[in-house]
Amino acid sequence: MQRIDTTRPHPARVYDWFLGGKDNYPVDEELGRRIMAIDAGTRQAAQSNRRFMERATRMLVHELGIRQFLDIGSGIPTEPNLHQIAQSTAPETRVVYVDNDPIVLAHADALLRGTPEGVTKYVQADAREPGTIIEQAARFLDLDRPVALSVIALVHFIADDDGAYDLVDTLVGALAPGSCLVLSTLTADFEPENVQRGIAAYAAGGVTLVARSRHETARFFQGLDIVQPGVVSVTDWRPEPAVEEPDSGREPVAIYGAVGVKR
Ligand SMILES: C[S@@+](CC[C@H](N)C(=O)[O-])C[C@H]1O[C@@H](n2cnc3c(N)ncnc32)[C@H](O)[C@@H]1O
Repeated sequence: MQRIDTTRPHPARVYDWFLGGKDNYPVDEELGRRIMAIDAGTRQAAQSNRRFMERATRMLVHELGIRQFLDIGSGIPTEPNLHQIAQSTAPETRVVYVDNDPIVLAHADALLRGTPEGVTKYVQADAREPGTIIEQAARFLDLDRPVALSVIALVHFIADDDGAYDLVDTLVGALAPGSCLVLSTLTADFEPENVQRGIAAYAAGGVTLVARSRHETARFFQGLDIVQPGVVSVTDWRPEPAVEEPDSGREPVAIYGAVGVKR
């Protein structure tokens, strides 16, 4: 098994620190604190991104009848996890999680406690190898039926020339009509200076981070029907004021989110 490297920050662990988790190391906390010094709203943005995942998952299950999910860049388990949301209303839902970080593998047990009627699996793989992911996912998902591909807060860790657009296109291309793409990604459209400083702090820690404009984010959905309200800050994507955390606010955060459907 790949070793957990505690000498440099890792995206999954820094994000865990932002979310108040315990599965991170001093190097991750150090980068997290540096980012908070640049933008004190980052923890809020991470929470808002989680809430986007929850609302999008509920919408896919309730409104579009999706019963299969391929969640890439799943992260360290954080309750509620995607399978818990989907299976709470549709226990038969099949969920395959994918991540490439050994720390996620180490905690994957928590991702595998799903309903007996459904399927909950974890695959250790790199998003930049979409062919391998499809091959592995096909062991647990019926790719002739709709699947929601969820890449939430993932593609901003992958540069264009490292295949960010190609991997999404390849994965969506392998899915049946009626499948969906759920994506969220960092943008510098709202707070350009802070976001660029944050990107520089990540780069100093050896982590690639890319901000994309609204137009560049929409490019991931080429050929898909983007559902309302389109590509918006995750806080503005179908907010549910009654169930939002009291302190979550509605300020746009520097993460775009959207959902598209393959016809
Ligand atoms: C910020 S976390 C997002 C977790 C979860 N999707 C969410 O939004 O709450 C990003 C995750 O993407 C994973 N990741 C980054 N690059 C990856 C790659 N090339 N292949 C697979 N996973 C990757 C990281 O390990 C991390 O767990």
